[in-house]
Amino acid sequence: MILAIESSCDETAAALVDDGGRLLSSVVASQADLHARYGGVVPEVASRRHLELCVPVVERALEDAGVGFDRVDAVAVTEGPGLIGALLVGLATAKALAFARRLPLIPVGHLHGHVASLYLEPEPVAPPFLVLLASGGHTLLAEVDDHGPGMRVVGQTLDDAAGEAFDQGARLLGLGYPGGAALERLARDGDDHAHEFAVAMAGREGLDLSFSGLKTALRTAVLAAGGDDAGRADLAASYQRALVRSLVSRTMRALEVTGRDTLAVVGGVAANGVLRAALEQECARAGVRLALAPLALCSDNAAMIASAARFCAALPYPEYLARDAYATA
Ligand SMILES: Nc1ncnc2c1ncn2[C@@H]1O[C@H](COP(=O)(O)OP(=O)(O)OP(=O)(O)O)[C@@H](O)[C@H]1O
Ligand SMILES: [Mg+2]
Repeated sequence: MILAIESSCDETAAALVDDGGRLLSSVVASQADLHARYGGVVPEVASRRHLELCVPVVERALEDAGVGFDRVDAVAVTEGPGLIGALLVGLATAKALAFARRLPLIPVGHLHGHVASLYLEPEPVAPPFLVLLASGGHTLLAEVDDHGPGMRVVGQTLDDAAGEAFDQGARLLGLGYPGGAALERLARDGDDHAHEFAVAMAGREGLDLSFSGLKTALRTAVLAAGGDDAGRADLAASYQRALVRSLVSRTMRALEVTGRDTLAVVGGVAANGVLRAALEQECARAGVRLALAPLALCSDNAAMIASAARFCAALPYPEYLARDAYATA
Protein backbone atom coordinates (compact mmCIF):
# COMPACT_ATOMS: atom_id res chain seq x y z
CA MET A 1 0.00 0.00 0.00
CA ILE A 2 1.29 3.44 -0.99
CA LEU A 3 0.67 6.66 0.96
CA ALA A 4 1.13 9.71 -1.30
CA ILE A 5 1.45 13.40 -0.51
CA GLU A 6 0.92 16.26 -2.99
CA SER A 7 1.73 19.88 -2.13
CA SER A 8 3.07 21.46 -5.33
CA CYS A 9 0.70 24.42 -5.47
CA ASP A 10 -2.30 25.38 -3.34
CA GLU A 11 -3.83 21.99 -2.60
CA THR A 12 -2.58 19.95 0.35
CA ALA A 13 -3.47 16.36 -0.49
CA ALA A 14 -2.88 12.80 0.72
CA ALA A 15 -4.13 9.49 -0.65
CA LEU A 16 -3.80 5.74 -0.19
CA VAL A 17 -3.66 3.31 -3.10
CA ASP A 18 -3.26 -0.44 -2.77
CA ASP A 19 -0.97 -2.70 -4.82
CA GLY A 20 -3.73 -3.39 -7.34
CA GLY A 21 -4.23 0.31 -8.11
CA ARG A 22 -7.43 0.66 -6.07
CA LEU A 23 -7.96 4.04 -4.44
CA LEU A 24 -8.64 3.59 -0.72
CA SER A 25 -8.87 7.27 0.21
CA SER A 26 -8.15 10.69 -1.24
CA VAL A 27 -8.18 13.88 0.80
CA VAL A 28 -7.71 17.29 -0.82
CA ALA A 29 -7.57 20.44 1.31
CA SER A 30 -7.84 23.37 -1.07
CA GLN A 31 -6.32 26.68 -0.08
CA ALA A 32 -8.25 28.53 -2.82
CA ASP A 33 -10.18 30.69 -0.31
CA LEU A 34 -6.95 31.77 1.33
CA HIS A 35 -5.49 33.02 -1.96
CA ALA A 36 -8.72 34.36 -3.52
CA ARG A 37 -8.30 37.82 -2.02
CA TYR A 38 -4.93 38.17 -3.82
CA GLY A 39 -6.30 36.95 -7.18
CA GLY A 40 -3.74 34.11 -7.34
CA VAL A 41 -1.50 31.86 -5.26
CA VAL A 42 0.97 33.63 -2.95
CA PRO A 43 3.84 31.11 -2.65
CA GLU A 44 4.95 31.92 0.90
CA VAL A 45 1.36 31.90 2.17
CA ALA A 46 0.85 28.53 0.45
CA SER A 47 3.97 27.01 2.08
CA ARG A 48 2.89 28.06 5.55
CA ARG A 49 -0.59 26.66 5.02
CA HIS A 50 0.84 23.35 3.76
CA LEU A 51 2.82 23.17 6.98
CA GLU A 52 -0.38 23.43 9.01
CA LEU A 53 -2.39 21.05 6.84
CA CYS A 54 0.04 18.31 5.85
CA VAL A 55 -0.11 16.09 8.95
CA PRO A 56 -3.90 16.41 9.52
CA VAL A 57 -4.52 15.62 5.85
CA VAL A 58 -2.34 12.47 6.06
CA GLU A 59 -4.14 11.42 9.27
CA ARG A 60 -7.49 11.94 7.58
CA ALA A 61 -6.43 9.85 4.56
CA LEU A 62 -5.48 6.94 6.86
CA GLU A 63 -8.72 7.34 8.81
CA ASP A 64 -10.87 7.41 5.64
CA ALA A 65 -9.16 4.25 4.37
CA GLY A 66 -9.60 2.62 7.77
CA VAL A 67 -5.97 1.54 7.99
CA GLY A 68 -3.12 2.27 10.38
CA PHE A 69 0.21 3.75 9.27
CA ASP A 70 1.75 0.33 10.01
CA ARG A 71 0.01 -1.01 6.88
CA VAL A 72 1.80 1.45 4.56
CA ASP A 73 4.64 -0.09 2.50
CA ALA A 74 6.01 3.03 0.81
CA VAL A 75 5.58 6.81 0.94
CA ALA A 76 5.29 8.73 -2.35
CA VAL A 77 5.57 12.47 -2.80
CA THR A 78 5.53 15.11 -5.53
CA GLU A 79 9.10 16.35 -5.96
CA GLY A 80 8.39 18.89 -8.73
CA PRO A 81 7.59 20.91 -10.71
CA GLY A 82 5.78 23.42 -8.52
CA LEU A 83 6.28 26.16 -5.95
CA ILE A 84 9.55 25.31 -4.26
CA GLY A 85 8.52 26.17 -0.70
CA ALA A 86 5.26 24.29 -1.08
CA LEU A 87 7.04 21.22 -2.50
CA LEU A 88 9.60 21.22 0.33
CA VAL A 89 6.87 20.94 2.96
CA GLY A 90 5.42 17.82 1.31
CA LEU A 91 8.84 16.33 0.70
CA ALA A 92 10.02 16.90 4.28
CA THR A 93 6.80 15.38 5.65
CA ALA A 94 7.14 12.35 3.36
CA LYS A 95 10.81 11.86 4.28
CA ALA A 96 10.02 12.03 8.00
CA LEU A 97 7.16 9.54 7.69
CA ALA A 98 9.22 7.11 5.60
CA PHE A 99 12.30 7.46 7.82
CA ALA A 100 10.35 6.82 11.01
CA ARG A 101 9.33 3.37 9.76
CA ARG A 102 12.38 2.68 7.53
CA LEU A 103 10.13 2.63 4.47
CA PRO A 104 11.20 3.40 0.91
CA LEU A 105 10.37 6.83 -0.56
CA ILE A 106 9.05 7.27 -4.09
CA PRO A 107 9.60 10.74 -5.62
CA VAL A 108 7.02 11.47 -8.33
CA GLY A 109 6.93 14.11 -11.07
CA HIS A 110 3.73 16.15 -10.89
CA LEU A 111 3.04 15.89 -14.64
CA HIS A 112 3.51 12.11 -14.55
CA GLY A 113 0.98 12.25 -11.72
CA HIS A 114 -1.59 14.03 -13.89
CA VAL A 115 -1.18 11.36 -16.60
CA ALA A 116 -1.42 8.59 -13.99
CA SER A 117 -4.87 9.86 -12.95
CA LEU A 118 -5.94 7.47 -15.72
CA TYR A 119 -4.22 4.37 -14.30
CA LEU A 120 -6.44 3.75 -11.26
CA GLU A 121 -9.13 1.08 -10.87
CA PRO A 122 -11.97 0.47 -11.66
CA GLU A 123 -11.45 1.63 -15.25
CA PRO A 124 -7.73 2.02 -15.83
CA VAL A 125 -6.56 3.26 -19.23
CA ALA A 126 -3.27 1.79 -20.40
CA PRO A 127 -0.70 3.47 -22.67
CA PRO A 128 0.25 3.87 -25.48
CA PHE A 129 -1.67 7.09 -26.17
CA LEU A 130 -1.32 10.74 -27.05
CA VAL A 131 -2.03 12.88 -23.99
CA LEU A 132 -3.37 16.41 -23.79
CA LEU A 133 -2.27 17.73 -20.41
CA ALA A 134 -3.94 21.06 -19.70
CA SER A 135 -3.57 22.48 -16.21
CA GLY A 136 -2.93 25.72 -14.35
CA GLY A 137 0.80 25.74 -15.03
CA HIS A 138 1.26 23.52 -18.10
CA THR A 139 -0.33 22.79 -21.44
CA LEU A 140 1.27 20.18 -23.63
CA LEU A 141 0.68 17.35 -26.08
CA ALA A 142 2.86 14.29 -25.55
CA GLU A 143 3.25 10.70 -26.65
CA VAL A 144 3.15 8.21 -23.77
CA ASP A 145 4.35 4.65 -24.48
CA ASP A 146 4.26 3.06 -21.03
CA HIS A 147 3.18 3.67 -17.45
CA GLY A 148 6.59 5.11 -16.45
CA PRO A 149 7.49 8.78 -16.07
CA GLY A 150 8.77 9.28 -19.64
CA MET A 151 6.79 11.15 -22.30
CA ARG A 152 7.75 12.73 -25.62
CA VAL A 153 6.40 16.27 -25.92
CA VAL A 154 5.24 17.06 -29.47
CA GLY A 155 3.60 20.43 -28.80
CA GLN A 156 3.17 22.88 -25.95
CA THR A 157 2.10 26.37 -25.08
CA LEU A 158 4.59 29.07 -25.95
CA ASP A 159 3.27 31.40 -23.25
CA ASP A 160 0.32 30.95 -20.85
CA ALA A 161 -1.09 27.58 -19.78
CA ALA A 162 -4.73 26.89 -20.70
CA GLY A 163 -5.78 26.93 -17.02
CA GLU A 164 -3.96 30.22 -16.56
CA ALA A 165 -5.85 31.60 -19.59
CA PHE A 166 -9.14 30.49 -18.00
CA ASP A 167 -8.11 32.07 -14.67
CA GLN A 168 -7.03 35.35 -16.26
CA GLY A 169 -10.18 35.48 -18.37
CA ALA A 170 -12.24 34.93 -15.24
CA ARG A 171 -10.39 37.72 -13.51
CA LEU A 172 -11.06 40.12 -16.40
CA LEU A 173 -14.75 39.18 -16.16
CA GLY A 174 -14.83 39.92 -12.43
CA LEU A 175 -15.07 36.25 -11.32
CA GLY A 176 -13.04 34.94 -8.39
CA TYR A 177 -9.88 32.85 -8.25
CA PRO A 178 -9.47 30.11 -9.41
CA GLY A 179 -11.74 31.02 -12.26
CA GLY A 180 -11.92 28.12 -14.74
CA ALA A 181 -15.05 26.52 -13.32
CA ALA A 182 -16.69 29.92 -12.64
CA LEU A 183 -16.05 31.04 -16.22
CA GLU A 184 -17.58 27.81 -17.51
CA ARG A 185 -20.69 28.44 -15.37
CA LEU A 186 -21.07 32.06 -16.56
CA ALA A 187 -20.57 30.96 -20.19
CA ARG A 188 -23.65 28.68 -20.00
CA ASP A 189 -25.91 31.76 -20.21
CA GLY A 190 -23.97 33.36 -23.06
CA ASP A 191 -23.84 33.26 -26.86
CA ASP A 192 -20.50 31.71 -27.81
CA HIS A 193 -20.61 33.36 -31.25
CA ALA A 194 -21.21 36.89 -29.90
CA HIS A 195 -17.50 37.67 -30.29
CA GLU A 196 -14.99 36.25 -32.77
CA PHE A 197 -11.72 35.79 -30.90
CA ALA A 198 -8.82 34.77 -33.14
CA VAL A 199 -6.84 31.67 -32.19
CA ALA A 200 -3.07 31.75 -32.68
CA MET A 201 -1.44 29.14 -34.93
CA ALA A 202 1.90 28.66 -33.25
CA GLY A 203 4.94 26.51 -33.99
CA ARG A 204 6.35 25.01 -37.16
CA GLU A 205 4.19 21.91 -37.31
CA GLY A 206 1.18 23.74 -35.91
CA LEU A 207 1.32 21.67 -32.73
CA ASP A 208 2.25 24.44 -30.30
CA LEU A 209 -0.29 26.67 -28.60
CA SER A 210 -0.44 30.30 -27.52
CA PHE A 211 -3.01 31.99 -25.33
CA SER A 212 -1.56 35.38 -24.43
CA GLY A 213 -3.03 37.18 -27.48
CA LEU A 214 -6.46 35.79 -26.66
CA LYS A 215 -6.25 37.22 -23.16
CA THR A 216 -5.39 40.66 -24.59
CA ALA A 217 -8.31 40.40 -27.04
CA LEU A 218 -10.65 39.65 -24.13
CA ARG A 219 -9.33 42.60 -22.16
CA THR A 220 -10.05 44.91 -25.13
CA ALA A 221 -13.54 43.43 -25.58
CA VAL A 222 -14.35 43.73 -21.85
CA LEU A 223 -13.41 47.41 -21.89
CA ALA A 224 -15.51 47.99 -25.03
CA ALA A 225 -18.53 46.03 -23.76
CA GLY A 226 -19.31 47.99 -20.61
CA GLY A 227 -20.18 45.17 -18.23
CA ASP A 228 -23.86 44.18 -18.02
CA ASP A 229 -24.52 40.52 -17.08
CA ALA A 230 -25.66 39.34 -20.52
CA GLY A 231 -22.61 40.97 -22.09
CA ARG A 232 -20.29 39.27 -19.62
CA ALA A 233 -21.87 35.87 -20.29
CA ASP A 234 -21.41 36.38 -24.06
CA LEU A 235 -17.77 37.30 -23.51
CA ALA A 236 -17.21 34.26 -21.28
CA ALA A 237 -18.85 31.91 -23.80
CA SER A 238 -16.95 33.34 -26.77
CA TYR A 239 -13.64 33.31 -24.91
CA GLN A 240 -14.19 29.71 -23.78
CA ARG A 241 -15.07 28.69 -27.35
CA ALA A 242 -11.79 30.18 -28.60
CA LEU A 243 -9.78 28.40 -25.90
CA VAL A 244 -11.50 25.09 -26.59
CA ARG A 245 -11.13 25.51 -30.37
CA SER A 246 -7.43 26.10 -29.94
CA LEU A 247 -6.95 23.04 -27.72
CA VAL A 248 -9.09 20.78 -29.89
CA SER A 249 -7.59 21.81 -33.24
CA ARG A 250 -4.02 21.36 -32.01
CA THR A 251 -4.88 18.03 -30.38
CA MET A 252 -6.56 16.63 -33.51
CA ARG A 253 -3.57 17.76 -35.58
CA ALA A 254 -1.19 16.05 -33.13
CA LEU A 255 -3.20 12.81 -33.47
CA GLU A 256 -2.78 13.04 -37.25
CA VAL A 257 0.95 13.79 -37.10
CA THR A 258 1.72 11.05 -34.55
CA GLY A 259 -0.75 8.48 -35.92
CA ARG A 260 -1.91 7.61 -32.38
CA ASP A 261 -5.34 5.98 -32.09
CA THR A 262 -6.02 6.84 -28.43
CA LEU A 263 -6.28 10.28 -26.88
CA ALA A 264 -5.98 10.83 -23.12
CA VAL A 265 -6.99 14.15 -21.54
CA VAL A 266 -5.79 15.12 -18.05
CA GLY A 267 -5.23 18.16 -15.79
CA GLY A 268 -7.54 20.76 -14.25
CA VAL A 269 -8.83 22.04 -17.61
CA ALA A 270 -9.89 18.47 -18.51
CA ALA A 271 -12.82 19.12 -16.12
CA ASN A 272 -14.26 21.63 -18.61
CA GLY A 273 -17.54 20.28 -20.00
CA VAL A 274 -17.32 22.17 -23.30
CA LEU A 275 -13.83 20.81 -23.95
CA ARG A 276 -14.89 17.26 -23.04
CA ALA A 277 -17.91 17.44 -25.35
CA ALA A 278 -15.89 18.91 -28.24
CA LEU A 279 -13.23 16.22 -27.96
CA GLU A 280 -15.88 13.50 -27.74
CA GLN A 281 -17.37 14.75 -30.99
CA GLU A 282 -14.06 15.14 -32.84
CA CYS A 283 -12.66 11.81 -31.65
CA ALA A 284 -15.85 9.98 -32.68
CA ARG A 285 -15.56 11.57 -36.12
CA ALA A 286 -11.87 10.66 -36.44
CA GLY A 287 -12.28 7.11 -35.06
CA VAL A 288 -10.00 7.87 -32.12
CA ARG A 289 -10.54 6.27 -28.71
CA LEU A 290 -10.96 8.93 -26.02
CA ALA A 291 -9.99 8.57 -22.35
CA LEU A 292 -10.99 11.51 -20.17
CA ALA A 293 -9.59 11.78 -16.64
CA PRO A 294 -12.27 11.20 -13.97
CA LEU A 295 -13.67 14.61 -12.93
CA ALA A 296 -12.54 14.20 -9.32
CA LEU A 297 -8.94 13.59 -10.43
CA CYS A 298 -8.51 16.46 -12.94
CA SER A 299 -7.36 19.16 -10.51
CA ASP A 300 -4.47 18.49 -8.15
CA ASN A 301 -4.84 15.52 -5.82
CA ALA A 302 -2.63 12.86 -4.24
CA ALA A 303 -4.47 9.86 -5.71
CA MET A 304 -2.76 10.54 -9.05
CA ILE A 305 0.62 10.79 -7.29
CA ALA A 306 0.08 7.42 -5.58
CA SER A 307 -1.00 6.00 -8.93
CA ALA A 308 2.17 7.27 -10.68
CA ALA A 309 4.31 6.00 -7.80
CA ARG A 310 3.34 2.41 -8.67
CA PHE A 311 5.39 2.88 -11.85
CA CYS A 312 8.37 4.81 -10.42
CA ALA A 313 11.62 3.69 -8.82
CA ALA A 314 11.57 3.61 -5.01
CA LEU A 315 14.54 5.00 -3.08
CA PRO A 316 15.54 2.66 -0.24
CA TYR A 317 15.81 3.83 3.38
CA PRO A 318 17.68 6.06 4.20
CA GLU A 319 19.09 7.11 0.79
CA TYR A 320 16.36 9.66 0.19
CA LEU A 321 17.21 12.01 3.05
CA ALA A 322 19.36 14.18 0.75
CA ARG A 323 16.74 14.26 -2.02
CA ASP A 324 15.78 17.75 -3.24
CA ALA A 325 12.59 19.23 -4.65
CA TYR A 326 12.73 21.12 -7.95
CA ALA A 327 10.62 24.02 -9.18
CA THR A 328 10.74 23.40 -12.95
CA ALA A 329 10.07 20.34 -15.12
N1 LIG B 1 -14.28 23.53 -15.43
C1 LIG B 1 -13.12 24.10 -15.72
N2 LIG B 1 -12.95 24.74 -16.90
C2 LIG B 1 -11.77 25.31 -17.20
N3 LIG B 1 -10.70 25.30 -16.40
C3 LIG B 1 -10.82 24.70 -15.22
C4 LIG B 1 -12.03 24.06 -14.81
N4 LIG B 1 -11.83 23.54 -13.58
C5 LIG B 1 -10.56 23.83 -13.23
N5 LIG B 1 -9.94 24.54 -14.21
C6 LIG B 1 -8.59 25.11 -14.19
O1 LIG B 1 -7.64 24.11 -13.91
C7 LIG B 1 -6.51 24.72 -13.28
C8 LIG B 1 -6.09 23.89 -12.07
O2 LIG B 1 -5.65 22.66 -12.54
P1 LIG B 1 -4.48 21.87 -11.84
O3 LIG B 1 -4.78 21.77 -10.39
O4 LIG B 1 -4.27 20.64 -12.59
O5 LIG B 1 -3.30 22.90 -12.13
P2 LIG B 1 -2.01 23.21 -11.29
O6 LIG B 1 -1.67 22.04 -10.47
O7 LIG B 1 -2.21 24.52 -10.65
O8 LIG B 1 -0.93 23.37 -12.42
P3 LIG B 1 0.19 22.28 -12.84
O9 LIG B 1 -0.42 20.94 -12.73
O10 LIG B 1 0.53 22.66 -14.22
O11 LIG B 1 1.32 22.47 -11.87
C9 LIG B 1 -6.91 26.13 -12.89
O12 LIG B 1 -6.29 27.02 -13.79
C10 LIG B 1 -8.43 26.11 -13.09
O13 LIG B 1 -8.97 27.36 -13.46
MG1 LIG C 1 -1.48 20.14 -11.25
